[in-house]
Amino acid sequence: MRRLLALVAALLALRPALATDPYAFFDWDVSYVTAAPLGVKQQVIGINGKFPGPVVNITTNWNVVVNVLNDLDEPLLITWNGIQHRKNCWQDGVLGTNCPIPSGWNWTYEFQVKDQIGSFFYFPSTGLQRAAGGFGGIVVNNRDVIAVPFGRPDGDITILIGDWYNKNHTDLRKMLDKGKDLGMPDGVLINGKGPYRYNDSLVPAGIEYETFNVHPGRTYRIRVHNVGTSTSLNFRIQGHNMLLVETEGSYTTQQNYTNLDVHVGQSYSFLVTTDQNASSDYYIVASARQVNESLWRRVTGVAVLRYSNSGGPASGPLPDPPQDRDDRTFSMNQARSVRWNLSAGAARPNPQGSFRYSAINVTQAYLLRSTAPVSIGGRRRATLNGLSYAPPETPLRLADAYGVEGVYTLDFPERPPPGAAPRIARSIINGTYRGFMELIFQNNDTRMQSYHMDGYAFFVVGMDYGEWTEDSRGTYNKGDGVARSTIQVYPGAWAAVLVSLDNVGIWNVRSENLDSWYLGQEVYVRVVNPEDTGNKTEMAIPGNALYCGQLHKYQKEQTPHHKMGVSAAAPRSSFAARRLVSAALLLAGSFVLAP
Ligand SMILES: *[C@@H]1O[C@H](CO)[C@@H](O)[C@H](O)[C@H]1NC(C)=O
Ligand SMILES: *[C@@H]1O[C@H](CO)[C@@H](O)[C@H](O)[C@H]1NC(C)=O
Ligand SMILES: *[C@@H]1O[C@H](CO)[C@@H](O)[C@H](O)[C@H]1NC(C)=O
Ligand SMILES: *[C@@H]1O[C@H](CO)[C@@H](O)[C@H](O)[C@H]1NC(C)=O
Ligand SMILES: *[C@@H]1O[C@H](CO)[C@@H](O)[C@H](O)[C@H]1NC(C)=O
Ligand SMILES: *[C@@H]1O[C@H](CO)[C@@H](O)[C@H](O)[C@H]1NC(C)=O
Ligand SMILES: *[C@@H]1O[C@H](CO)[C@@H](O)[C@H](O)[C@H]1NC(C)=O
Ligand SMILES: *[C@@H]1O[C@H](CO)[C@@H](O)[C@H](O)[C@H]1NC(C)=O
Ligand SMILES: *[C@@H]1O[C@H](CO)[C@@H](O)[C@H](O)[C@H]1NC(C)=O
Ligand SMILES: *[C@@H]1O[C@H](CO)[C@@H](O)[C@H](O)[C@H]1NC(C)=O
Ligand SMILES: *[C@@H]1O[C@H](CO)[C@@H](O)[C@H](O)[C@H]1NC(C)=O
Ligand SMILES: *[C@@H]1O[C@H](CO)[C@@H](O)[C@H](O)[C@H]1NC(C)=O
Repeated sequence: MRRLLALVAALLALRPALATDPYAFFDWDVSYVTAAPLGVKQQVIGINGKFPGPVVNITTNWNVVVNVLNDLDEPLLITWNGIQHRKNCWQDGVLGTNCPIPSGWNWTYEFQVKDQIGSFFYFPSTGLQRAAGGFGGIVVNNRDVIAVPFGRPDGDITILIGDWYNKNHTDLRKMLDKGKDLGMPDGVLINGKGPYRYNDSLVPAGIEYETFNVHPGRTYRIRVHNVGTSTSLNFRIQGHNMLLVETEGSYTTQQNYTNLDVHVGQSYSFLVTTDQNASSDYYIVASARQVNESLWRRVTGVAVLRYSNSGGPASGPLPDPPQDRDDRTFSMNQARSVRWNLSAGAARPNPQGSFRYSAINVTQAYLLRSTAPVSIGGRRRATLNGLSYAPPETPLRLADAYGVEGVYTLDFPERPPPGAAPRIARSIINGTYRGFMELIFQNNDTRMQSYHMDGYAFFVVGMDYGEWTEDSRGTYNKGDGVARSTIQVYPGAWAAVLVSLDNVGIWNVRSENLDSWYLGQEVYVRVVNPEDTGNKTEMAIPGNALYCGQLHKYQKEQTPHHKMGVSAAAPRSSFAARRLVSAALLLAGSFVLAP
């Protein structure tokens, strides 16, 4: 018995995560399912047959094990928007760190949500797949010993909003490959469903819509995520105040909003009190923003908030969006009003708000300029500082682990190089471990953008219209800039964030707009601890790592588990290896450099 215990203890000691923290196991079969959210039948990406996928409901420090079975007909990676993967970029699920899971294979993610709380979401990260679904909410609850800056809500509701096309992701990909714009979306989905028929001429009959059932006199925590392709959405609930309490893992100063702009890739949670008279149901609206709203009327999602004592269905016009057509500061001021509650704790016993970022000297500063798409070698591409990223066939982190050279360069320019012609590149940012980095996003495009960084939360310290200059630093918020992972950047404007590079790994910085991302608007930040030789500041490569590109020879065969009828042509190992090699090709918008 004692020997057995010792063996178990030894085995547990080998696990990368703390054995004392609980495990949560998930088995996901990712496959196409047929749906017609806007009345047009199409194949969407479901998880265990559900669209959207299930909410991952976990608690700080839990170990999460997700066995993902790829039942699609193309490679797959799931990424976890906002989950920091401390010391463990191996689980990040983007092409810079992971080989895509071939069609018919399964792969198991295993990571710990160390020192995190809050609202996040997951989605398939490659080849525009998010435009077809595969997304779902992540709730990271606080541990019981940690105080939360508000009373326990009576319910917890996840709301996924996003623009939607009746064309599927493979058709959308073809459009981008041909140099076309995706154009105006066909609508907005709320939890995978089309709009309530608030207007007979605008919404056809027979569309299934989402209903949220609530009781009067209660308070609900509502977590809103924009999982769409590229449209900023104004979110509002008719007749109800929304008390903002958290965004992407930080408690905010609590303020009431009647509506809030939620940009692509962003997550917010609100407390909503059901304090209205319930003479009828109430509309929940997500409508297009930062576009010509009168032209984009169909890009409106409508769901229903139904009290248990409701007097009848909602009717009449939708609650108004902000009337700010001639005031481009309204939305930006709203964004600036999102502040960190410095006295609220978060995931750790000592308040995270005691982290005084303004006392730290910046050691590296990068200004990343985006422009409207440009033509490179006859193809339409999107850039940052004139560079359009094309993912190498060998993931960057994997190449490092095996000493494969020439996969990427560490020379990403700190400023847009004047006069340089835009080009395809695999140039990434050389981050200094324990350095303090300033990232300034300058949007020289005419459309709204949002940028996300994996592995970290950054402090949002400033944003304004015009060109960023050194003097702009004087306007930074030096006290309560909120720590989050996705920041909006208005057209013709900049946004500045500060990030403490304490998480070793290679981390994706990307446009959350799927089309810009697909066309190359991303970069990676490589953070290496030169002194770590013993897996202390970064976990070892996981035993189940997939190998592709120049390392595909290390890949072991996996018997495919196809349910899709593709099984007749089950890939043999060499074929499978070739599939792995070609996966990056498919995902890079057909633009891959040798080797
Ligand atoms: C997408 O739609 C096209 C038709 O427009 C069809 O040929 C293709 O098979 C569809 N792809 C998926 C994955 O459903
Ligand atoms: C999520 O987990 C928390 C804590 O374990 C639990 O209280 C809550 O009921 C769960 N929510 C759902 C929707 O399962
Ligand atoms: C998936 O992978 C694990 C091992 O990593 C294996 O035990 C399991 O049977 C596989 N198959 C399915 C269908 O999940
Ligand atoms: C900030 O958090 C503290 C501690 O939980 C709470 O008492 C206070 O009301 C919060 N302040 C605001 C403005 O939200
Ligand atoms: C429905 O929308 C149309 C087109 O925008 C508008 O003309 C009409 O007044 C709306 N109907 C109602 C009942 O609001
Ligand atoms: C927010 O609005 C509610 C009414 O909906 C009110 O009771 C509450 O005091 C307001 N809170 C703040 C911080 O303004
Ligand atoms: C309920 O509230 C709405 C709007 O706040 C108001 O128009 C309506 O007259 C009220 N109904 C009753 C029965 O009080
Ligand atoms: C929005 O589109 C309408 C209809 O095409 C047009 O009349 C209007 O001028 C446009 N507004 C702006 C601000 O471009
Ligand atoms: C930051 O830089 C200033 C000026 O170079 C220096 O005086 C100060 O000691 C530095 N602070 C820290 C915390 O390193
Ligand atoms: C990357 O930065 C480190 C310091 O953090 C430096 O030692 C190294 O030379 C840099 N590498 C390149 C290729 O510039
Ligand atoms: C882009 O930059 C140019 C040159 O700095 C400037 O003239 C132009 O107004 C900018 N456009 C936008 C949309 O920011
Ligand atoms: C790091 O972990 C790997 C895999 O568990 C192991 O092979 C290697 O020996 C470890 N390195 C050190 C220095 O402990």
